[in-house]
Amino acid sequence: MIFNLEHYIKEKQKLINKYLGIILHQFDKKRELVMAMEHSLMAGGKRLRPILSLASAEICSENFSMLALPACCAIEMIHTYSLIHDDLPAMDNDDLRRGLPTCHKQFSEATAILAGDALLTHAFQIISQPKIVFETYPDVEVRMQLVSKISQAAGIMGMIEGQMLDMQPQIFESGDCLTHLKNMHSLKTGKMITVSIESGAISVGADPADIEHLIDFGDKIGLAFQVVDDILNVEGDPDRMGKSKGSDILNKKITFPLIIGIDASRKFAKDLMDEAIESISSLGEQSTTPLKAIATYIVNRDH
Ligand code: IPE
Ligand code: IPE
Ligand code: MG
Ligand code: MG
Repeated sequence: MIFNLEHYIKEKQKLINKYLGIILHQFDKKRELVMAMEHSLMAGGKRLRPILSLASAEICSENFSMLALPACCAIEMIHTYSLIHDDLPAMDNDDLRRGLPTCHKQFSEATAILAGDALLTHAFQIISQPKIVFETYPDVEVRMQLVSKISQAAGIMGMIEGQMLDMQPQIFESGDCLTHLKNMHSLKTGKMITVSIESGAISVGADPADIEHLIDFGDKIGLAFQVVDDILNVEGDPDRMGKSKGSDILNKKITFPLIIGIDASRKFAKDLMDEAIESISSLGEQSTTPLKAIATYIVNRDH
């Protein structure tokens, strides 16, 4: 059977959106905080992280991949919170996100900060108390492990430290600039992508050796993802991306295109993709098809 990535992505997006909707609809839609959370969460992101998580779960367990759904939703909520805060005037000061005005433009800065806070904290409520929303979910020990891994990736040991480095261009003035850049991208974007893949596998009780291969895949594709994000910030189509371009130059951000140029950035992303695909080659041909196809999509995407 020929694998159709577009169909695969659409099916998974439908599933993830259904559960994110259920999570939000526990709350009164008329509350401003809920409206702001919904504005950003349901605006139509690609849902790439939860899709990677489900694809990873499917490799490790054909029948029980639905066990990965609570972590999938939690990760998408954390990702959305990171976008809301990333767009704030004090950070990247962006007006457009997911094809809509950014949360602080649509509501207020204070509401956007609080909507982000609420998405972040409620994400951990979803993993620890999944029965309110999900029919099946991992055992409590597995859920503890998920909380630990995801909080590591999202916080001072991952995304937040990466976001901090992104705000400190002066660190690039000493040492090897490219090494700094890879480290910053791996932290700010890579860690959440890796943990998405890892969480899918953990949720279904995967073999630790298989998880190691998947982490390796995640690290490579996570870094490639941010390199492509940098390229799209230079030459992407804002209508297609649903966010503005040119902000990195405007904000004097250190990016791959700035340091090594567009062509070398593209080659770097492609090499990472090849290495990522190679790192899961021992996990079987057929079951890894979706993950490999998503890796190719990450590097060739236009939004
Ligand atoms: C954008 O992430 C922010 C980065 C970490 C580079 P996505 O490109 O996955 O954004 P959405 O979720 O589709 O809006
Ligand atoms: C975002 O990085 C990384 C996050 C942790 C949110 P960018 O600032 O480069 O992403 P975009 O281009 O605004 O989506
Ligand atoms: Mg940023
Ligand atoms: Mg930004």
